Amino acid sequence: MRRLEEVIEGTRLVLQQGDITRQEVEAIVNAANPQLTPGGGVSGAIHRAGGPEVTQAAAAIRRQRGPLPTGEAVITPGGNLPAKWVIHTVGPVWRGGGKGEPELLAKAYRSCLDLAVSKGIKSIAFPSISTGVYGYPVERAARVALAAIPDFLREHPGALAEVRMVLFSAEDFEAYRRAWEELSG
Ligand code: APR
Repeated sequence: MRRLEEVIEGTRLVLQQGDITRQEVEAIVNAANPQLTPGGGVSGAIHRAGGPEVTQAAAAIRRQRGPLPTGEAVITPGGNLPAKWVIHTVGPVWRGGGKGEPELLAKAYRSCLDLAVSKGIKSIAFPSISTGVYGYPVERAARVALAAIPDFLREHPGALAEVRMVLFSAEDFEAYRRAWEELSG
């Protein structure tokens, strides 16, 4: 299996190829739409595997607080998933890179990590937010994710035991691996 691991300020940062719905961590992150409906891609897979508990809790949040702004995050139970929680965030739609996309993508990662820490969650797995339907080029998204996560870990030493990036395809894993190697110099 493709896997890389590094320890940053007491937290394991793991890069691996896999299916996020199968991860045995406390929380998995969903690349959601603002309406928090199942949608396709990773979101469809998470709602299918989690079942009605996830979809109904997401719908209740949507009714209560309206559409989720890009870069923000909310939490629901994980239903039938191995993960106890799903943290739903909305990544930016790629519009060429000049519309604040990198900042919004970094904010999405940070919001999920902040929410996890505030709930006492110790292990979290992310998919590659925005790089499917939302069209964010994976090489660029990888650099944003692999800068934002270590920045957070350095600011919150020991707050989390493990942060895992789970890439669905071998190509995406390779893009993240290249960014990982570039950024760790
Ligand atoms: N596990 C891990 N990663 C997955 C899985 C899975 N089971 N299924 C898909 N992916 C990957 C895709 O290969 C892609 O690299 O998740 C990444 C994100 O793709 P999308 O799910 O399309 O997410 P995003 O680009 O953020 O678009 C969000 O898609 O599902 C809709 O309702 C959602 O409108 C929203 C949009």
